[in-house]
Amino acid sequence: MKASVIRIARFNAAHRLFKKEWTDEKNLEVFGACSHPNYHGHNYKIEVKVTGEIDEGTGFVMDLKILKAVIHEQVLERFDHRNLNLDVSEFTNLIPTAENIAVVIYNLIKPNINPNLELHIRLSETDRNLVEFPVV
Ligand code: NI
Repeated sequence: MKASVIRIARFNAAHRLFKKEWTDEKNLEVFGACSHPNYHGHNYKIEVKVTGEIDEGTGFVMDLKILKAVIHEQVLERFDHRNLNLDVSEFTNLIPTAENIAVVIYNLIKPNINPNLELHIRLSETDRNLVEFPVV
């Protein structure tokens, strides 16, 4: 019997959406306020969903204490109170859109959980915008 468990975490980070090859005007046209040159912050929320068989011995899909620790080590310690463009190496050549942040978070967490478990990330940049990866 399968179930999903979900752990929620939050971090604050700055970013700027821009392509180096484009002018500030072109960046503003495509990315709007998120391309302002001096960066801006968001209060990000992530929902980390893990799906798998309920273990007969423990009754758990995954111990949420362990998931909490993985999220802390892999995501919060790298991203919280950072400038994603400047401080997080994954975004040196990757635009830190919510989509790309969700993919990076997935790739940071996945190797640290049991490979038999499915992982799914929801990331909210604002109350009204959220991204899911992978597609369900
Ligand atoms: Ni933004």
